[in-house]
Amino acid sequence: MKAIITAAGLGTRFAPVTRVVPKEMLPIGSRPALELLVEEARSAGVDGITIVISPEKELIRAYFADEKDIGFVYQNEQLGLGHAVLQAHIDDDVLVMLGDAIVTGCSAAAEMADVRRRTGAAAVVGLERVPRERVSRYGIARCGAIDERARTVEILDLVEKPPVEEAPSDLAVAGRYILPKGIFDLLAVQKPGRKGEIQLTDSIASMAREGGVLGYVYPGRRLDIGNPDGYYEALTAMRSGR
Ligand code: G1P
Repeated sequence: MKAIITAAGLGTRFAPVTRVVPKEMLPIGSRPALELLVEEARSAGVDGITIVISPEKELIRAYFADEKDIGFVYQNEQLGLGHAVLQAHIDDDVLVMLGDAIVTGCSAAAEMADVRRRTGAAAVVGLERVPRERVSRYGIARCGAIDERARTVEILDLVEKPPVEEAPSDLAVAGRYILPKGIFDLLAVQKPGRKGEIQLTDSIASMAREGGVLGYVYPGRRLDIGNPDGYYEALTAMRSGR
């Protein structure tokens, strides 16, 4: 399995500093946030990491220049998360990590890799419970069988950013995915969805409707460092180890 970390987003929620510093390079202590993701990917046992960047974010490439297991591809147009992942097209299963989501309290990626090994699921999607009023910010799962002890749920379908009244549950896609290589064929023909963008959620939903997609409610906390509030929260959480 290889890892893809998406870090091509413009960072408009964190302007103006993102005009010169990519949000993924903002420091958590003395290290850029992105380094925490790289470590998490390695802890899941991946054999290679591709970081998706945009031409404005060469700083990321410069920082990781000496790391032999890291390569780069470019997303030149902002056509959505699914499109970003497609730029890294790899002939292997992939761990996809969203570059502006750091997780404290556990290695979500390593635990998801374990879940996949144990269950033989085709795909494992990291999930978190969110308050009902916030479901419209996330990909939301329609769930079948739940195993509380194992923290897993069968995902029957997914919907990207549904209005509250249409949300099938309060379980949200939380920045980490383990996907079979077949995902790239689906992404290549994926029609634009929510916001006119090529949504990763929609391609995983096609898989889920065929079966074999498991959700894992990882025990850590996801912190969105793509905006100042989330970033401050991440600093506080990392400092206190929570
Ligand atoms: C993306 C995904 C969404 C997911 C969210 C948090 O949305 O499209 O399904 O729930 O990340 O992981 P974004 O926050 O990039 O709009």
